[in-house]
Amino acid sequence: MEYETNNWIWDGVYNHPHVFGGLMLTAALLGLSTSYFGGISVPQLPYLWSDSGIFHKKKSEKKRIRVYMDGCFDLMHYGHANALRQAKALGDELVVGVVSDEEIIANKGPPVLSMEERLALVSGLKWVDEVIASAPYEITEQFMNRLFNEHRIDYIIHGDDPCLLPDGTDAYALAKKAGRYKQIKRTEGVSSTDIVGRILSSLKETNNTSSHGDPCEESQSKSAQLSQFLPTSRRIVQFSNGKAPGPNARIVYIDGAFDLFHAGHVEILKNARQLGDFLLVGIHNDHTVSEHRGKHPIMHLHERSLGVLGCRYVDEVIIGAPWEITMDMITTFNISLVVRGTVSEYNSSFTGESDPYSVPKSMGIFQVLESPKDITTTSVSQRIIANHDAYLKRNARKTASEKKYYEQKKYVSGD
Ligand SMILES: *[C@@H]1O[C@H](CO)[C@@H](O)[C@H](O)[C@H]1NC(C)=O
Ligand SMILES: *[C@@H]1O[C@H](CO)[C@@H](O)[C@H](O)[C@H]1NC(C)=O
Ligand SMILES: *[C@@H]1O[C@H](CO)[C@@H](O)[C@H](O)[C@H]1NC(C)=O
Ligand SMILES: *[C@@H]1O[C@H](CO)[C@@H](O)[C@H](O)[C@H]1NC(C)=O
Repeated sequence: MEYETNNWIWDGVYNHPHVFGGLMLTAALLGLSTSYFGGISVPQLPYLWSDSGIFHKKKSEKKRIRVYMDGCFDLMHYGHANALRQAKALGDELVVGVVSDEEIIANKGPPVLSMEERLALVSGLKWVDEVIASAPYEITEQFMNRLFNEHRIDYIIHGDDPCLLPDGTDAYALAKKAGRYKQIKRTEGVSSTDIVGRILSSLKETNNTSSHGDPCEESQSKSAQLSQFLPTSRRIVQFSNGKAPGPNARIVYIDGAFDLFHAGHVEILKNARQLGDFLLVGIHNDHTVSEHRGKHPIMHLHERSLGVLGCRYVDEVIIGAPWEITMDMITTFNISLVVRGTVSEYNSSFTGESDPYSVPKSMGIFQVLESPKDITTTSVSQRIIANHDAYLKRNARKTASEKKYYEQKKYVSGD
C-alpha cells in the first residue's frame, strides 16, 4: 500500500504536470478551506493541494486510509517533515492541520512565520495530501468529531511525547478510546527551540566576523555545536525519491544554501521545477556558504539537504555542490537549464571572484527566475532577533524542558 501511495504521488508529478502549477481543488476541499480560513484572505488557497483527478480513479478499488496530524509548524524543519513522513506511512492520504496565528499567540506567543508561510511550507512537503488551515491548538472533542465525520479521518497521529490539556487530561484520550489513535516516534536532534537558539547565538557571532583561524573549523564549532542531529544514510534514503530522470527528461539545476528552509524556497523550487521534467538542486557546503555570505549557515549541510529533499518539487539533490557550475557538471547530469532566483543571500561584491554561472551563461542555458517572495534566511532570522527578549524568555522555558527530555530519554524503536 505504501509503495502504491508513493507511486501515486510521483505519477502525479510525472504524468500530470498540470496538477502542479494549476489549482485543482475538489468542491469538498474548497468548502472546507473557506470555513477554516476565517479571517485570512484567500490568495493562499493554491497551497491547499489536492490531487482530485487521481484520487477518483483509485477510490472505487479500495477505501483509502486517511490520517490526520496537526502542528504549529513555526520555523518548519526536517523534524516536522520527518514526523509527517512517518504519519503518511500509517495511511494512504495525509491531512495536516496547521494551527492558526491567533491560537499560537494565545498559547505560545507570536509565531515567527505567518499562516501563509506556514501553509506554503507544509503544502510543499511531498508527503502531504491536504491541508486544513487554522486548526485548533488543542484537539477538542468537537473538532475530533469534525475530523472523523466531515474530513473522513480514520486515524489521528501524534508523536510519542505526551500531550496534556490544561486540565491535565490526555488530549488524545477520546481518539485512543475509539481505537483511532496512532503514534509515531519523535525525530531527534532538532526542534524549533533549538533553531531559535542557534539564530540568537549567530547574532552574537556576527559582531565578531573578522574571525580568526580556519573558517572550516569555526563553522564546525559554531553551528554544529548546537546541533544534536546525527545524519544517517537511512534518513537521507527515507527522504529521497530514489528515481533517476526518465528518458529524454529536461533537467533543471538550481543551487544555493537553502538555509532555514522557508516559503520563498518552496516557491522558487516550484517555479524552477515547472521549467523541466526533473529538478536537481545543488546545496552548497557550510564552508562555501560562510565564505560567500560572511556568516555561518544556521543549519548545517545535512540538515539543509533534508529540508530541500522533503520538498515535493525536488527530484534530486547534490549534497555539497560546487560554487561554480562547471562544464563537467553540466555533462555529468545532462543539465538543460541552470536557474537562479533574483533574491539571494549571497553578496557577490563580498568575495569579488568570478561569476559562478559563467559556463551556463556562455552556453545559453542560464535563466534568472523572478523570486516569488522576498523572504530570506536573514529576514526570518531578523524577525526572531526583533523579538529577541520575548523569544529568549520563551526559549529559556522550552530549553529547560528539552534538557529534561534529553536527560530522561531512553531508546525507542521505530522509524
Ligand atoms: C566576540 O566573541 C567573544 C567570545 O568569542 C565575546 O566574548 C565577545 O562579546 C564578542 N564580541 C562581540 C562584539 O560580540
Ligand atoms: C554588535 O554591533 C552592533 C553594530 O555594530 C552594535 O549596535 C551592537 O551593540 C553590537 N552587539 C554587541 C553584543 O556588541
Ligand atoms: C539530455 O537532455 C536532453 C534535453 O535537454 C534530452 O533530449 C536528452 O535525451 C538527454 N540525454 C539523455 C541521454 O537522456
Ligand atoms: C556586500 O559586501 C560589501 C563589501 O563587504 C558591502 O559593502 C555591501 O554592503 C554588502 N551588501 C549587502 C547587500 O550585504
